[in-house]
Amino acid sequence: MRKTLRYGMVGGDLHAFIGGVHRTAISFDGRADLVAGCFNPDMTVNRECGEFYRLDEHRIYSSYMEMAEKESNREDGIDFVSIVTPNFLHYEVAKKFLMCGINVLCEKPLSFKVEEAQELKAIAEEHNLYFAVNYSYSGNNMVKEARELVRQGVIGEIINVNAEYLQEYLVDDVGKGDQKMLKLSSWRKDPKVAGISNCVGDIGSHIEHTVAYITGLKIKKVAAVLDYFGQPLDLNANVLVEFENGAHGVYASSQVCVGHMNGLVVRIFGTEGAIEWVQENPNILSVTLKGQPTQIYNRGMGYVSKRSADMNRLPSGHPEGLYEAFANIYKCYISAIIKKVNHAEPNEEELDFPTVEDGISGVKFIYACVKSSKENSAWVEL
Ligand SMILES: NC(=O)c1ccc[n+]([C@@H]2O[C@H](COP(=O)([O-])OP(=O)(O)OC[C@H]3O[C@@H](n4cnc5c(N)ncnc54)[C@H](O)[C@@H]3O)[C@@H](O)[C@H]2O)c1
Repeated sequence: MRKTLRYGMVGGDLHAFIGGVHRTAISFDGRADLVAGCFNPDMTVNRECGEFYRLDEHRIYSSYMEMAEKESNREDGIDFVSIVTPNFLHYEVAKKFLMCGINVLCEKPLSFKVEEAQELKAIAEEHNLYFAVNYSYSGNNMVKEARELVRQGVIGEIINVNAEYLQEYLVDDVGKGDQKMLKLSSWRKDPKVAGISNCVGDIGSHIEHTVAYITGLKIKKVAAVLDYFGQPLDLNANVLVEFENGAHGVYASSQVCVGHMNGLVVRIFGTEGAIEWVQENPNILSVTLKGQPTQIYNRGMGYVSKRSADMNRLPSGHPEGLYEAFANIYKCYISAIIKKVNHAEPNEEELDFPTVEDGISGVKFIYACVKSSKENSAWVEL
């Protein structure tokens, strides 16, 4: 019976942003070891990373194609791959690993086109593989608590959603044409690398998934205004959303809001109460029941749901954050694969990670927002 897994990574060299967060998060539970990688197409930078993690030199690959093929032919090959490259590579890299019979966890947005995302789902199903898409905020403990409260009916029927994801880091680009770009922003503003959207694709998509995760609501259609400020891709987006239950919501995402760094805030309003979760203060959840003062739920306290308690890593008052959110996604994803390699069925809690289906919803949302904005903010069905 296997208790641990082997994994590989594509992208995420030592100088990249998110690859290191993935590796650290995976290490939290000690159930998967990094054994292979293609961290950068430049072999010097690639080796630097592979050697840092003490990989076998033969498993530091010069291309993801070679990595997928050679790993799938090894008896001790990787059980899953984490894809942490810029967006344009997600589809082709994921497809290659799936075709080689390797489980995939891919960063968001899943692909450039809806059809590509659907094709990936079909291939994963055909090969009986687990495919996670890293909408990381749904890994937060108090986001799970919010979901439990909605499921228990504590705030009644959902009648309105108000969510925002505000950043300021591209404000210097407004009206100034193609500026010298910050490292973080360099590829995100290039349509060939980022896809059809910058702001909605990069952060609006997190709103879309986090709300869907908490509420279970499906978006029927959107009406959007995207602002480009002279840039090739959007930097600011105000989106009106209609859900299939008839409720409406407003999703505001922006990279030009001075004073905001990574301000994801989700507010869910129901007939009996409201819930608010703020990413920059992730260990608390504000819950207001009709006619009562606002209550603050603290992560780790005895009154939280079993699900939240089960996902706890530190005692209350010791903040958990981004790393723990990623680690929780991997905890479930790795548990599901461990069950699979041992020919057992994962339970519902082990399957609590964002899937390729969520990835498809995300790409549909991005497409609908861009289309609506181009069509003078007409309603566009997802
Ligand atoms: N879920 C989240 O919260 C979150 C946060 C940040 C970024 N992301 C996503 O993660 C992805 C990466 O973002 P980032 O900010 O880390 O970018 P980055 O530019 O910092 O890193 C990208 C990495 O991909 C590597 N790469 C590029 N082409 C490659 C190739 N052909 N083969 C192998 N490696 C290659 C680069 O060398 C680099 O190491 C993006 O899709 C982004 O949307 C998600």
